Amino acid sequence: MKAVRFHDFGDTEVLRYEDAERPTPGPGEVLLRVAGSAFNPVDDGIRGGYLREVFPVTLPHTPGIEASGTVDALGEGVTGVAVGDAVVAFLPMTAAGSAAEYVVAPADALAPAPTSIPLADAAALPMVGLTAWQALFDDAGLTAGQRVLINGAGGAVGGYAVQLAKGAGAHVIATASPRSAERVRSAGADEVIDHTASEVTTDEPVDVLLNLARIAPEELTALAALVRDGGVVVNTVPTIPTPADEARGVRGVGVFVRGDAERLARLTAMVDRGELRVNVAERVPLAELPGVHARAAAGTLPGKVVVVPPTA
Ligand SMILES: NC(=O)c1ccc[n+]([C@@H]2O[C@H](COP(=O)([O-])OP(=O)(O)OC[C@H]3O[C@@H](n4cnc5c(N)ncnc54)[C@H](OP(=O)(O)O)[C@@H]3O)[C@@H](O)[C@H]2O)c1
Repeated sequence: MKAVRFHDFGDTEVLRYEDAERPTPGPGEVLLRVAGSAFNPVDDGIRGGYLREVFPVTLPHTPGIEASGTVDALGEGVTGVAVGDAVVAFLPMTAAGSAAEYVVAPADALAPAPTSIPLADAAALPMVGLTAWQALFDDAGLTAGQRVLINGAGGAVGGYAVQLAKGAGAHVIATASPRSAERVRSAGADEVIDHTASEVTTDEPVDVLLNLARIAPEELTALAALVRDGGVVVNTVPTIPTPADEARGVRGVGVFVRGDAERLARLTAMVDRGELRVNVAERVPLAELPGVHARAAAGTLPGKVVVVPPTA
């Protein structure tokens, strides 16, 4: 099969589009014929070798932690899923990934794919959708009527976070540059602040600050001052410490996304009910994944990118 792999850690040149052996599912696993594999910023860190201690991958490694596809074969003991089923998965971070024609996935990571969007596009949902949900509701405990400031709403996680927070009845204040402002507004943000043009501030304190942007630690500390006493700061960016303020009862929670096939199935059902939109900026052939990593490193990706293998 064709796959994109790297045999050494390093810059984007280490990525090779090459032939690799088609994997075989073990007990409790399935083989997926990949329809789509979504790029995530963490793929860049894993390839660059910066995350070796957190996510120790074996070389050569195939990147890609989000997948959509069709079940092609079942490993021993797998029940509840059949060959031919269209599914999505948030894959284990250190296993061989979805930037390939086939990938092995744990059966208990699978959720039914939404039927109302192209199967390839559904790859843009699993990990980022779960991150948005868990950050807002499991980690921050956001409820109807609360005010949430989403910093970095112009990105992939932010697109879902705005929709989910709004759908839950929160007042959503979002930061977005001009290139993302319209998308963030149409996702349901009540207020959009251009973080490139003005200081990010709010008229009234917020209950929840969700940070999704790679900003300087002191910038995040300044944003945390906008959180009311007893509120919460949740932060997905692991390289920035999450500020808390004990004196004011403000909690700080560093988000670490967890696999949750049941929640993922609820998210795909929301897509089919028209309650959650999946935004895909570009679909590119698998062979062009190295260029996607290069554009991500240069900060020029236009949004969520899905790569599509030649046989999909
Ligand atoms: N901890 C976890 O479990 C976990 C899980 C998922 C993701 N993450 C991390 O969470 C972050 C967001 O993920 P993502 O997939 O949404 O990334 P993304 O698509 O790259 O989105 C980040 C967005 O931040 C915006 N941004 C850039 N500079 C900004 C600034 N100074 N102020 C405000 N916004 C700014 C950009 O949009 P505009 O410039 O257009 O506004 C960009 O699209 C990444 O760092 C990712 O690695 C962590």
